[in-house]
Amino acid sequence: MNFKHLSLAATTMVVASIVFWLGVKPILGAEVPVPPDFSYEETKPLGAVPFSHKFHVTAKKLQCPECHTKVFQMKKMAASKDMTMAKLNAGEFCGKCHDGKKAFATKDAKDCSRCHIKK
Ligand code: HEC
Ligand code: HEC
Ligand code: HEC
Repeated sequence: MNFKHLSLAATTMVVASIVFWLGVKPILGAEVPVPPDFSYEETKPLGAVPFSHKFHVTAKKLQCPECHTKVFQMKKMAASKDMTMAKLNAGEFCGKCHDGKKAFATKDAKDCSRCHIKK
């Protein structure tokens, strides 16, 4: 094998691995597991607030980076200690989208019970 053949082989390998990576990447993306639903409980006197990845990600097709990690850490309850309705109403946390434009507002009295579920 001369020099030309060698560099051709190297180029072929580089191209092949790029093609392979591009093929694999979307599969990896789709396989990132969607965490199960959980519930915020520091909501007195109103009911607890369940959060559903399944609804937001699978049904509403929101991408992970829309929430992670600028709005929320990938750790459930991490935001709970800082999450007050005052902050939500000011556009933080859930209020980033639940502002009456992207999604139903946190300020509307008629919509409290869409998040705060009485058991
Ligand atoms: C609509 C917003 C939103 C989107 C979109 C979203 N997440 Fe989350 N995720 C959250 C919230 C809220 C939490 C809990 C954070 C907290 O309580 O501080 C969370 C927590 C997590 C956790 C930690 C779960 C645990 O049990 O500790 C993982 C892992 C995670 N998300 C992965 C993902 C992945 C992967 C995607 C995309 C497929 C995604 N999330 C999309 C809002 C979102
Ligand atoms: C988009 C969902 C959502 C809507 C709509 C919503 N809340 Fe909340 N609320 C939350 C979350 C999340 C927390 C934080 C719970 C935690 O950290 O454990 C919370 C916490 C609270 C708390 C306890 C903390 C605090 O700030 O005093 C009260 C009281 C409350 N909400 C009242 C209301 C009222 C009243 C409405 C309607 C005007 C409302 N909420 C609408 C999600 C929502
Ligand atoms: C990245 C944007 C985004 C964030 C952040 C977000 N949501 Fe939503 N949420 C949506 C959209 C979009 C919808 C569907 C539109 C609507 O119902 O107004 C929705 C709908 C919902 C619904 C209605 C579900 C149903 O079955 O109809 C609930 C409950 C809810 N969100 C709770 C929350 C809570 C609690 C948080 C914070 C922990 C949160 N969301 C954060 C975008 C978001």
